[in-house]
Amino acid sequence: MAMKKQNKWTKSSWRSFPAQQQPLWPDSNVCEDTLKNLSHLPALVFAGESRSLKQDLAEVLEGKAFVLQAGECSEDFSRCHGPYIHNLLKVILQMSVIITYAGERKVVKIGRIAGQYAKPRSFDTEKIGKTIVPSYRGDMVNSPEPTMEARMPDPNRILEGYFRATATLNLVRAFTTGGYAALDQVHAWSEASVKAFSANPKYEELVSGIKKAIAFMDAIGIKSSNPQLNQVSLYTSHEALLLEYEEAMTRIDTTTGDWYDTSANMLWIGDRTRQPDGAHVEFMRGVCNPLGVKIGPGYVIDDIKRIAARLNPDNETGRLTMITRLGAEKINYLLPPLLREMKKEGFNVVWVCDPMHGNTYINRRSQKTRKYRDILKEIVKFWQIHQAEGTIAGGVHLELTGDDVTECTGGSRRLHDNDLRLNYQTNCDPRLNAEQAVELAFELATIINPS
Ligand code: PEP
Ligand code: CO
Repeated sequence: MAMKKQNKWTKSSWRSFPAQQQPLWPDSNVCEDTLKNLSHLPALVFAGESRSLKQDLAEVLEGKAFVLQAGECSEDFSRCHGPYIHNLLKVILQMSVIITYAGERKVVKIGRIAGQYAKPRSFDTEKIGKTIVPSYRGDMVNSPEPTMEARMPDPNRILEGYFRATATLNLVRAFTTGGYAALDQVHAWSEASVKAFSANPKYEELVSGIKKAIAFMDAIGIKSSNPQLNQVSLYTSHEALLLEYEEAMTRIDTTTGDWYDTSANMLWIGDRTRQPDGAHVEFMRGVCNPLGVKIGPGYVIDDIKRIAARLNPDNETGRLTMITRLGAEKINYLLPPLLREMKKEGFNVVWVCDPMHGNTYINRRSQKTRKYRDILKEIVKFWQIHQAEGTIAGGVHLELTGDDVTECTGGSRRLHDNDLRLNYQTNCDPRLNAEQAVELAFELATIINPS
């Protein structure tokens, strides 16, 4: 791992590097004022929490924990309300209990939540009927309605995003520590959802196993009111795309004197913005949060090595997670050489599978969708390849919602293209619905622990 000398980092040093996917604000003065305001507002998360997440991720590398990173493709201001957040949390918690039980490992739960408001786009503009409008770039930048006015970037949305992230996180913290996440409660939801999969006795077996485990703990005196059983941690994460927002949220941690991006516990760099000499890598290398990097099928191995060396020069365990999103077929020939090379070079990397973004396609009705079958297939392959290479399959990164949407086809209800119109809600990528997500957790249980 030859290291080149790096320039001095400051929270604004990224500004002299090429930055992809940044909005063009119509009035840069308004934007500067907004960012200044934001930089005085309280941190969303504590540096200490981000350090705990880093330790949890280090355990993944030892094979003792499993990553479940999940949530919206793009959070929507209009969905910042209690029942919606509650449903999403309910699914993540259910999945986590199923996976913990089957894998006999701790599940590190990381939401794509409380700040996932900015989206990279393949095209700057979009044709709607006869008019060409700027692309929707996430609620923190513009609005999804297809008019010139709605699509104009508005810096006030940055501030609104901050406040909505705060409100979301407040409810998440209340839910996860206030008894709502109690194991017996989460299990009761799983018992209810298993009815949807009556064709699969394997799932019922798992659910009754969990029930017995709870009864056993109760019998030996570990009551459901015990904080170990009725409190959970859900860390937050989002794509660190909008560098002005991330810079304004970056502060020195008074305990350690280190810089942390306080907008979320974990930040990741998308596949489209991870240029080794680009602004996103420059910004992220200076903050001490655990970091993710997405890796799509177009990766160049030397770039991945340079990114790893820049983001994690001390090769700290738990600092760097690489999230591969190669597609259910391409993973076969694209993942093995990547794992081999990173292992040979001695990089400490937590490997996570995003089976969503390499499997998106447009159907005959011009809807963006994904097949449940492809999602599952990429995960199965991911596990098989890691096993063959002697590396650790660390977990999954999913786009899902707690609602009953119809955006991905397949799953036990066998949704077809024709059914997608029933409740197709996403402004961005198609998400697994609650039932598909829980079903995937049951499948993951067998993948992790095939016995
Ligand atoms: C995403 O995670 O929503 C995303 C845009 O991913 P990627 O960078 O992998 O395309
Ligand atoms: Co997405």
